[in-house]
Amino acid sequence: MDRLRIQGGHPLKGTVRIGGAKNATLPLMSACLLTDQPLILDNVPNLADIHTLSRLLESLGVTTHHDDHSLTLTAQKTLNTRADYDLVRKMRASILVLGPLVSRHGQAEVSLPGGCAIGTRPVDLHIKGLEALGATIELKEGYIYAHARNGLVGTTLSFPLVSVTGTENLMMAACLAKGQTKLLNAAKEPEVTDLAECLVKMGAKIQGIGTNTLTIEGVKDLQGCTHSVVPDRIETGTYMMAAGITKGELELTHTRLDLLPTVMGVLEKVGLQFEPTSNGVRVRVNPSVSHLKSVGVTTEPFPGFPTDLQAQFMALMTVVQGTSTISETIFENRFMHIAELLRMGAHIQVQGSSASVTGVPHLVGAPVMATDLRASACLVLAGLAAQGETVINRVYHLDRGYESMETKLRACGAHIERIS
Ligand code: EPZ
Repeated sequence: MDRLRIQGGHPLKGTVRIGGAKNATLPLMSACLLTDQPLILDNVPNLADIHTLSRLLESLGVTTHHDDHSLTLTAQKTLNTRADYDLVRKMRASILVLGPLVSRHGQAEVSLPGGCAIGTRPVDLHIKGLEALGATIELKEGYIYAHARNGLVGTTLSFPLVSVTGTENLMMAACLAKGQTKLLNAAKEPEVTDLAECLVKMGAKIQGIGTNTLTIEGVKDLQGCTHSVVPDRIETGTYMMAAGITKGELELTHTRLDLLPTVMGVLEKVGLQFEPTSNGVRVRVNPSVSHLKSVGVTTEPFPGFPTDLQAQFMALMTVVQGTSTISETIFENRFMHIAELLRMGAHIQVQGSSASVTGVPHLVGAPVMATDLRASACLVLAGLAAQGETVINRVYHLDRGYESMETKLRACGAHIERIS
């Protein structure tokens, strides 16, 4: 099992190229099941989760061709419609094959994804939505058995809570349903918008893209297309915070500033300064502030502060002046990074779904354990700022969502190495 060894205390200086969004690539790949023509995706990040979904799609009968950061996916006319547990359990986003399979192929057997470290993460909204669209669904032996022999029929679905992949699954299913489907209280994360834009290129009829109400007119079939994946806003935010916590200066390229409206506002209040450049943004500590300071955040669906940046932001708050209250409202167990930060000398108190973080002059390096993807990014940031050496175990979590993180950081002066 790989580990990362970091000698902290070196300000980051240099340029980081931001990749395509993992959480856009996964639904975009699943969209290939809606047509038998080639779907060509560019700006695809080289991540473990992408390879896992490729393997799952291949097991269904999709041919995939990976060339550098481009991925071509072609689903044959007749597919195997069973997504096995041993692949689905590795990545719960596999649930995204359910909607397209039922909608275009009339049936699907998809393993229930099971929970993960950050929460039970049920998929009841995906299932209820497909039933409302006319599918018959049975849960048996850990699998979802879904049938829609005569195809799906459009209807109005109102989400009781915002669900990113729930919105994506049902939007894809609705594209080939008969008649109109309205999704109310739909997620409007940039990754949902990216998927909708790609579906429209494939021939789908979708109105309200980028809003909480999506209206989809079903069509008979969809074609292939070429689509470039939206930049990864979570990778972008992670490196912004890495610049802040090391008091360095980074230029982040191939990204977009409209993807992080709330995060950039919060980081400016903390004392960071952003300067747009020709194809990205330069981030550094604002030279006119004497020190970085605490700011409180509450995670919310887009455009609020993203839950996927909560752990990384907490790392930053451990070493700035003052006390920050960080409230996690999306997942019930997304504070596992706190135990590891405490071992590095952070001052954090948890009350239910809120954590009160009081800044300390510096963290101290220690051996720590990554528990999930974003917690591992949090520990890398803490290690970069800590005095002494930090060794992060179970780095496979990091590889799921960050392409070559140690290479990108080393190129900016970080003393970081991977130990196999
Ligand atoms: C997506 O997960 C992302 N993953 C997550 O990123 C992200 O944290 C999350 O959205 C929230 O932004 C992908 O896009 C592949 P949800 P998703 O459905 O769709 C509850 C990362 O680190 N819920 O928006 O699974 C659920 O329990 C990952 O890259 C139900 O109750 O999240 C949660 O409390 C982690 N029933 C809330 O809704 C359902 O049927 C939001 O979940 C579905 C969800």
